[in-house]
Amino acid sequence: CRLVVLVSGSGTNLQALLDAIAADPDYGARIVAVGADRDGIAGLDRAERAGLPTFVCRVKDHEDRAAWDLALTEAVAGYQPDLVVSAGFMKILGKEFLARFGGRVINTHPALLPSFPGTHGVRDALAYGAKVTGCTVHFVDAGVDTGPIIAQRAVEVRDEDDEDTLHERIKEVERRLLVEVVGRIARDGYRIEGRKVIVP
Ligand code: GRF
Repeated sequence: CRLVVLVSGSGTNLQALLDAIAADPDYGARIVAVGADRDGIAGLDRAERAGLPTFVCRVKDHEDRAAWDLALTEAVAGYQPDLVVSAGFMKILGKEFLARFGGRVINTHPALLPSFPGTHGVRDALAYGAKVTGCTVHFVDAGVDTGPIIAQRAVEVRDEDDEDTLHERIKEVERRLLVEVVGRIARDGYRIEGRKVIVP
């Protein structure tokens, strides 16, 4: 199963996938390229250290969002992915991208969707006073963090937490969940019944 991973930041979810693939010859998936929407991020360094092709598709290099979406679609298509993994990618994937890869794009989000979607899921859960939050791996659809949920894990919120301590605790769990889900989908596939995703 050929994976293209999209990142925007530190890339620790990417690193977890790289480590799992290196550790298990039967993992069932391999990363063929890593893409980002910006330069100079650790996620790209991690990919380069792993000897992977990388590409950067910046919105400001294009006349508008639609042109960027098309350029990103073509850049990803060049690697012929079976599955696209958005791991901390901080842009909304547009119409072209979803038309080309829809149904084969998964995202990891640091909250228990449908609670706290969007860019500040960790901060919003903390501000709300939630006692339990977590992480969600889901298929990407045209909405923001609204696609069918594949798997979730709960993470407790501690009284002394701030956004960083809580996000770090979530990421510990999130990385393991993403590695497990990607491997199972790669090896066993999945089916969707309405909004219900079944990964055997
Ligand atoms: C992850 O928690 C992801 O869910 C969120 O941003 C974080 C990215 O972390 N969107 P990393 O770049 O994988 O370290």
